[in-house]
Amino acid sequence: MGFKDVYNLVGGFKQWSGENLPVLQYDNNHSPWVHTVFEKETETAQYIVTDVESKEAYIIDPVLDYDPFSATVRPTMAKKILEFITKHNLSVTKIIDTHVHADHLTAAHYLKDLLPSKPEFWMGSNVTKVQEVFSQKYNLPGSQLSATGQQFDKLINEGDTWILGENIQCSVLSTPGHTPACMSYRIGDAAFVGDTLFMPDIGTARCDFPGGSAEQMYDSVQKMYKAWPNDTRIYVGHDYPPANSDRSVIVTTLGAHKEANQMVHEGISKNQYIDLRKKRDSQLRAPRFIHPALQVNTIYGSLLLLLADFPTIFLLIFLDQPTRWPSSC
Ligand SMILES: [Fe+2]
Repeated sequence: MGFKDVYNLVGGFKQWSGENLPVLQYDNNHSPWVHTVFEKETETAQYIVTDVESKEAYIIDPVLDYDPFSATVRPTMAKKILEFITKHNLSVTKIIDTHVHADHLTAAHYLKDLLPSKPEFWMGSNVTKVQEVFSQKYNLPGSQLSATGQQFDKLINEGDTWILGENIQCSVLSTPGHTPACMSYRIGDAAFVGDTLFMPDIGTARCDFPGGSAEQMYDSVQKMYKAWPNDTRIYVGHDYPPANSDRSVIVTTLGAHKEANQMVHEGISKNQYIDLRKKRDSQLRAPRFIHPALQVNTIYGSLLLLLADFPTIFLLIFLDQPTRWPSSC
């Protein structure tokens, strides 16, 4: 009829058919192709999410390999991702970090520089809260770490919506708890929840980092349970399967989490969850790469870009006072 953005007709479908307006069958693809590249050193799941019709793709949570003994970075994983993108002739328009990772260095800047499609690097808008916390932890003045989020191309907010390819609807929830800036992305029928939910036999991510909150994590998961359909495919940010586990696929449905997530299934109260989470967090050590990861992921992303294609030493300037640091990962 010549209209491009039609959201509502007074009288609904009854009125529509009463006026003999055209009705087209809904045959839009809403299910992106999800390819997982698992990085074993930090047990991180990296995802390439593609609309197969247009070949538009997003990269989610890519890892830049880091060797703590020589303080060098190598783009081994990033090159695997690039090979996949080239092999399938994909056009990457966004690289999304679900949050500021504390266990690995992001490869977003490295990939962004090499991809001809020049994707945007997306991060949750509350990254400014994370930057504020760590500018104090590392004793960095505003001239060295500006807590404005300007290191990213786009700061994303809950409620933002957009389209992948021609017709795959995308939306995002703010899901703080592990960190203040954690976001969970729904791309068609697939969701990328970062370190919010882990596989049901593990539970959720830890909540003891500075700015983390078990209470907020519980609320974030409940919000996700209400907002998304039960058959949403849930792709998690890490997997730490039990030693005897033989699982090779790290995806399940939201319904499976509601039913069986051992920390936050539907029968668990907020207080029960907080007790479980705090007990578990008290047994965890700090992630091995926490300081290089935080410095690169919050501060030095663009500097690292210049250095990442060959082994590189970068400077750690950890000047924290002897305050309590999260006790484990
Ligand atoms: Fe994390």
